[in-house]
Amino acid sequence: MTAERARITVFDTTLRDGEQSPGCSMNQQEKLRLAHQLDRLGVDVIEAGFPIASDGDFESVRAIASVVRRPIIAGLARACRPDIERAWEALQHAAHPRIHVFLATSDIHLQYKLRITRDQCVAQASDAIRFAKSLCEDVEFSPEDATRTDPDYLCRVLEAVVAAGATTLNIPDTVGYTVPAEFGDLITTIRRRVKGIENVTVSAHCHNDLGMAVANALAAVAAGARQVECTINGIGERAGNASLEEIVMAMRVRPDRFAYETGVVGDQIFASSQMLSEITGVPVQPNKAITGRNAFAHEAGIHQDGVLKNPLTYEIMTPQSVGVPDSKLVLGKHSGRHALGIRCEQLGYQFDRRALDDIYRRFVRLADKIKHVEDHHLLELIRDTHKPSGSATPLIEKIVPTQAAVVNAPTATPEPAAEPAKPFPVGPQTNAFGVPLPVHGESHHEQTQQEDYLWGV
Ligand code: KIV
Ligand code: ZN
Repeated sequence: MTAERARITVFDTTLRDGEQSPGCSMNQQEKLRLAHQLDRLGVDVIEAGFPIASDGDFESVRAIASVVRRPIIAGLARACRPDIERAWEALQHAAHPRIHVFLATSDIHLQYKLRITRDQCVAQASDAIRFAKSLCEDVEFSPEDATRTDPDYLCRVLEAVVAAGATTLNIPDTVGYTVPAEFGDLITTIRRRVKGIENVTVSAHCHNDLGMAVANALAAVAAGARQVECTINGIGERAGNASLEEIVMAMRVRPDRFAYETGVVGDQIFASSQMLSEITGVPVQPNKAITGRNAFAHEAGIHQDGVLKNPLTYEIMTPQSVGVPDSKLVLGKHSGRHALGIRCEQLGYQFDRRALDDIYRRFVRLADKIKHVEDHHLLELIRDTHKPSGSATPLIEKIVPTQAAVVNAPTATPEPAAEPAKPFPVGPQTNAFGVPLPVHGESHHEQTQQEDYLWGV
């Protein structure tokens, strides 16, 4: 008998915290398109924006709230009346609205940013939650910079907001400072000490400044958090947020360690990642786990040979399980004869052993020079190696092109797009299949003043 697996609420903040990444701002139409995709992806909560930040953000939240009906739609607000009213104005027609109120609680934020005392902070947080609750049943509270807040004081604030009506307590590691064991302990402490905690959902919101956002989020879940806040491709403020796809797939690939389930539809992951990248013009880092174009690519000969014999040798999940159509054998200087032979077959050529050896020798010399041997290089090499005047006259048997051969035909391989002048590109502007992403004009996304507004408080 298998044990019941706890259900984790996936709170996607790509459209809010994610949008705060440099170069990732989106207009209303783009946000709406992505919100529909997040709905198909099966997330439970879409944080659609920060309505008071700008009229554009307000309109986006309102539009999403009125047409995306399955998930909860959340809007962010500082702990003050005008923000909460504006958030509610944008959310009121949602099928499932949520007001998300935040207020910093660490001494460093109280002293230097907010200039209020600890007592004033408790009062402001509970007043804000009480007001939000008078408008909306579903209210989330986030003590910003929680991981640098004195834990005793943090528990005091949390207890006050639970008494005021908060239904979700989100614990943000705002500056990406914590580490998994410490964050797990903090969640345990909160769950033990905060009165009324059993009636609310505890949530984790992790930033990636030390590269531990996903590990921290998973540690929080192991300690009893039942909501994770995350973004597609891990985009977000500075080094980003915990990546949705990494959290979800860690749970799917390692149920022995993470016996939890989510409502995420695995085969929509890749499409969501590609859509975000296409909309923002920010490419996915090639070696990004799950969604990077190399995540399922095998170049070393030993790896290619193994994967061709049985994918389980080097793949812990199938590309199909995250919506990537097929793994891609990258032909480079480390590739072996086996992979080369398969690719030749996919291009419509079958060789006997001697002929393949000839091709292989020339292929290795070429790969040394140009790193990645594309299909058109290979076709040229085949033609060159076996032209009638050549010394070797091996059997070259043309076979009926397979589907893969058609896909890989050189005429179908577009030239990679030129790198546009953007502040944040990390690789060629192509998707996982080498298909160029649209190049946005420089004026396409105007930097809003949202960042100043958000963090200048
Ligand atoms: O990182 C953070 O503290 C936030 C809050 C607004 C939840 O994004
Ligand atoms: Zn954040």
